[in-house]
Amino acid sequence: MSKQQRSRADVSADEETSSVSSNEGISSVRFTVPGLEPDHAQQVIELLQERLHALADLSLTLKHIHWNVVGPHFIAVHTMLDPQYEAVSGMVDEAAERIATLGGSPQGTPGALVAARHWDDYSIGRADAISHLAALDLVYTGVIEAHRQAIDATDEPDPVTQDLLIGQSGQLEQFQWFVRAHLENAGGGLVTEGATTEQEAARTAAAS
Ligand SMILES: [Fe+2]
Repeated sequence: MSKQQRSRADVSADEETSSVSSNEGISSVRFTVPGLEPDHAQQVIELLQERLHALADLSLTLKHIHWNVVGPHFIAVHTMLDPQYEAVSGMVDEAAERIATLGGSPQGTPGALVAARHWDDYSIGRADAISHLAALDLVYTGVIEAHRQAIDATDEPDPVTQDLLIGQSGQLEQFQWFVRAHLENAGGGLVTEGATTEQEAARTAAAS
């Protein structure tokens, strides 16, 4: 199949408008935190469910890379990704428990994730460090852009959820910097500049 890969970065701009329809399995809010209108809570829960899926996907992707990276820089990347996985797993838990706190039911099954997501599976298997890091950079871009949109969208209804997302974003941005430092050239640019798919980024980085 020659299907164009749907990257997280490509779809992040559509996330605000698609968040409701992709979370139809979430039941109505029966109670929520004091001072928050139930319909606002529902809106924030749906938004958090999107972030929960994206973070769960990211945590699995980080382990997949941890297991599949090969070559001379194996141990550097293999060990760099463990703390990232641990932190992102913690973010998954935070998002899910915030949904429950707001009176919602977090959807945490693999089937719910696959049914709701609108990006493709991570597309690199066994490969060298620079190829995986180039692809992972795009993964982080998609997750971080969508987190920024969620920060904007939670400003009015729920600054507590917004604060949680801001804290997560700071850490995600630092992790992307760890990845990007490997892709940076002496001029301060990225060797993958202009690449829009994981495969293209991996190819470009491997040839640099
Ligand atoms: Fe391990």
